[in-house]
Amino acid sequence: MDLSNMLVFLVFPYIALTIFIFGHAARYLTDRYEWNAKSSEFLEKKRLLFGVTVFHWGMILVLLGHAGGLLIPQRLLDAMGINGETHTFIAHYNGMATGIAALIGLGLLLYRRISVLRIRLTTSQNDFITLFGLIFVSGAGIYNVLFEDYYILDTIAPWIRGIVTFSPDPALMLNVPLGYKIHIVSALALLAFSPFSRLVHIWSAPVGYFFRNWIEFRQKTIE
Ligand code: HEM
Repeated sequence: MDLSNMLVFLVFPYIALTIFIFGHAARYLTDRYEWNAKSSEFLEKKRLLFGVTVFHWGMILVLLGHAGGLLIPQRLLDAMGINGETHTFIAHYNGMATGIAALIGLGLLLYRRISVLRIRLTTSQNDFITLFGLIFVSGAGIYNVLFEDYYILDTIAPWIRGIVTFSPDPALMLNVPLGYKIHIVSALALLAFSPFSRLVHIWSAPVGYFFRNWIEFRQKTIE
């Protein structure tokens, strides 16, 4: 067994996931007031709107695509009539479109953070690390989609399912191209960093908003 491969694709993923879970719990218990998206809309609205919308739609679809494409075993998809080739085709073009949208959105958000003085002055180091981290991970993903032609359904997909079902097999990752390894390791590092950043807001999606009762506003007329 290759020791470095075992450290990177067996030990490191569990360290990252442990920090992710306990980091969120600790942050929630100790720093609930700061658990938010740190909206900067009241400081600048015009440039934010397009960048933040394109980024969020792209990124949320990317994450849903990753979850569906990697976690559902191929034999289930085969039973539904989606063979490996079709799966790869959908993943490739879906990932390309949504990933490029997310990356363009991130570029616009970074440009806004640097070019608008009041936004730059209120941006912390942590905010920059978060944006650069997202740009690096998404950029590596897009690089693989555009320049690598690698079939992941026999290696990376079963490896990640092994990690989440506690039956890991790091040997599956031995011959995976470097671009994919960089994408995976940087994504795990970002996952471990996320509880300590504004990314915690992902877990406070305002789902209840769509189901809550209407709030009715009436004008008070004084006669
Ligand atoms: C679950 C659904 C999500 C909701 C409801 C949501 C909501 C928001 C809101 C309200 C903002 C503040 C925008 C402003 O400045 O006014 C924001 C910013 C941000 N969100 Fe999300 N978000 C979600 C998912 C995500 C995901 C999945 C990611 C990344 C993996 C993400 C990353 C970011 C980043 C980096 C910013 C800061 C952008 C900037 O101002 O530079 N969000 N989000």
